[in-house]
Amino acid sequence: MLIKHKSPSDVRSSEITPREMFFDRRSLLKGAAGLSGGVLLGALPFPGGARAGAMLPDVAESLYKVDETPTPFEHVTGYNNFYEFGTGKEDPAENARKFNPKPWSVVIDGEVEKAARYDLEDLISPHRLEERTYRFRCVEAWSMVVPWVGVPLADVIKRLGPTSRAKYVAFETLLDPDRMPGQRRALLDWPYLEGLRMDEAMNPLSLLVVGLYGEVLPNQNGAPVRLMVPWKYGFKAIKSIVRMSFTETMPPTSWNRSSPHEYGFYANVNPQVSHPRWSQARERRIGDSFFSPKRETLMFNGYGEEVAGLYAGMDLARNY
Ligand code: MTE
Repeated sequence: MLIKHKSPSDVRSSEITPREMFFDRRSLLKGAAGLSGGVLLGALPFPGGARAGAMLPDVAESLYKVDETPTPFEHVTGYNNFYEFGTGKEDPAENARKFNPKPWSVVIDGEVEKAARYDLEDLISPHRLEERTYRFRCVEAWSMVVPWVGVPLADVIKRLGPTSRAKYVAFETLLDPDRMPGQRRALLDWPYLEGLRMDEAMNPLSLLVVGLYGEVLPNQNGAPVRLMVPWKYGFKAIKSIVRMSFTETMPPTSWNRSSPHEYGFYANVNPQVSHPRWSQARERRIGDSFFSPKRETLMFNGYGEEVAGLYAGMDLARNY
């Protein structure tokens, strides 16, 4: 996600350096530090860091697993978009360090029988945790492969009992500028909002994520609960969710509200529909060598067999 009107001082090195170069440069620097007796090493803390989080118990293997090498943990957790914690790619890992996502509750309201405020534990624990290795395609034309841990969104929704009038699910991130310093700047109209059509939310691929790489979800990746809809651009994957509302009408979404000509409600990965400022035909897989060619972006991020039917008859160039 890119903000259009930035002063040069706002642009971090991680935003202007291609991502693999950025990581290569870090490993080069780390390597150099090692050679020079580790003097530099302490001065270059990697914000994603080593795996240190609590492991999630009883995670079932899932059939949903792309046969591709997962992106290294330190990249997945060290290079993030989470504007509540800053606009630089390293900011979330740094600035979300002290964020405490416990206790956490989620308000369920709107067109639903069991409307209430639920402890996150009560919302998640009736369901089996699964690990699903999904491709993840950011609108900024880079991609990753991540072993997410979560529960099918459809299972959670079924238990809540949406009424027949529920056509959409709206999601909302926590609003708390004291704990989320990025919200002190009016980059977006906070809180961050997202939404899915009901049939998208009920698709078996849609996942409510509470972990990655077997661990409790790191703060910078959207602790304690975020969405993952692998056939859509990454900005649909709303983090740190505090509300799910069932609505009759299409809910507003943050990026659509902020730049309607750039970001639509659907945001399906579509190599044929360019972003107004860049092509979406190809992507850089994080972890690939900087010199290896970009990969072709796949329609629906490669999940067409599972989701193309949801959009039958729709003009996807108009409904982007
Ligand atoms: N959710 C909130 N609340 N705030 C954000 O800034 N960024 C989105 C999405 N969810 C964002 C968010 C974007 S643009 C992307 S690409 C993904 O989170 C990044 O997810 P990741 O940090 O796990 O890679």
